[in-house]
Amino acid sequence: MPLPLLDHRLLIVTGKGGVGKSSVAAALALLAARGGKRALVCEVNALERVAPLLGAPRAGDEIRQALPSLYTVNVRPAAAMREYGLMVLKYQTIYEAVFENRVVRHFLKVVPSLAELVMLGKILHEARVEEGGRRRWDLVVVDAPSTGHAVQLLRTPAALLETVPPGPLRRDARWMQALLVDPAFTSLALVTLPEELPVNEAIELDEQVRGLLGIPRGALLVNSVPEPRFADRERAPLRELAGEPSPLGPAARAAALLALRAEQAGRQVARARAAIDLPVTVLPMLASGTWGREEVERLATSVGEGGASWAR
Ligand SMILES: Nc1ncnc2c1ncn2[C@@H]1O[C@H](COP(=O)(O)OP(=O)(O)O)[C@@H](O)[C@H]1O
Ligand SMILES: [Mg+2]
Repeated sequence: MPLPLLDHRLLIVTGKGGVGKSSVAAALALLAARGGKRALVCEVNALERVAPLLGAPRAGDEIRQALPSLYTVNVRPAAAMREYGLMVLKYQTIYEAVFENRVVRHFLKVVPSLAELVMLGKILHEARVEEGGRRRWDLVVVDAPSTGHAVQLLRTPAALLETVPPGPLRRDARWMQALLVDPAFTSLALVTLPEELPVNEAIELDEQVRGLLGIPRGALLVNSVPEPRFADRERAPLRELAGEPSPLGPAARAAALLALRAEQAGRQVARARAAIDLPVTVLPMLASGTWGREEVERLATSVGEGGASWAR
């Protein structure tokens, strides 16, 4: 599958908090980089997670290389505002006179959508900018905020278009919105877990992406799905062994629990598939004491293979 997903210029990764968004965003960028693309992962005003996940130092406001062909940045309002100001005003000294004062800082606070507009503007600028006839990035992956905040962020240009009078702000909102809804440019990937509430939230988010936002959707990734290790016919004997003395009994009870969890997860994957009209990739739950580059590499490989073998 998601090789078409990686063939866009902008890939927005979103979902409920804690479902593995950052890991999946890092894995998708890694997969693109493995395929020879120059990829940038943008986190949005986050406690930076992607670079450390890849075993690299945090980037902060400046784009920084994490791995070959793979760069990261944490897009934050103040730095994005500064770059935006500089782009409009061109000269550092004018910029400093105009922007680095209390009035503007106050303005940023009272017009929160301006902060979102400049952050989104920075991301979209990176995604589209070309230098000497070559694009700067083959792929920009956005580790977007979780559900409600992502909707608010991605809705900013359209909301401004509805409210702001003609002028530079409106002009910027217009090109941004045009890119966000362009299916040749943008694709959105939803990440969820095989659990009832995350699947509910993914279904609701998908409705908002299709309706309110109108952003082209590319894939649903169900992350951290436990492998069904026991066939149905093995489960009755497991239950019978559960009463045996140690070590057989406790082992059989643990195995029965695993089988039950895998079955429940399978039901949630099926529910997500039925409700969300997108190609689905099932990513395995990795049993691992630590969480870092090795796990992200394994997720990337799994995405590249079309998801966990047992769920294809
Ligand atoms: N496929 C997976 N298998 C096992 N654990 C996972 C998996 N994906 C994520 N996790 C766990 O979930 C934690 C949160 O992941 P992260 O990518 O930071 O989520 P988010 O960005 O959605 O908050 C990770 O630190 C890891 O422990
Ligand atoms: Mg995250």
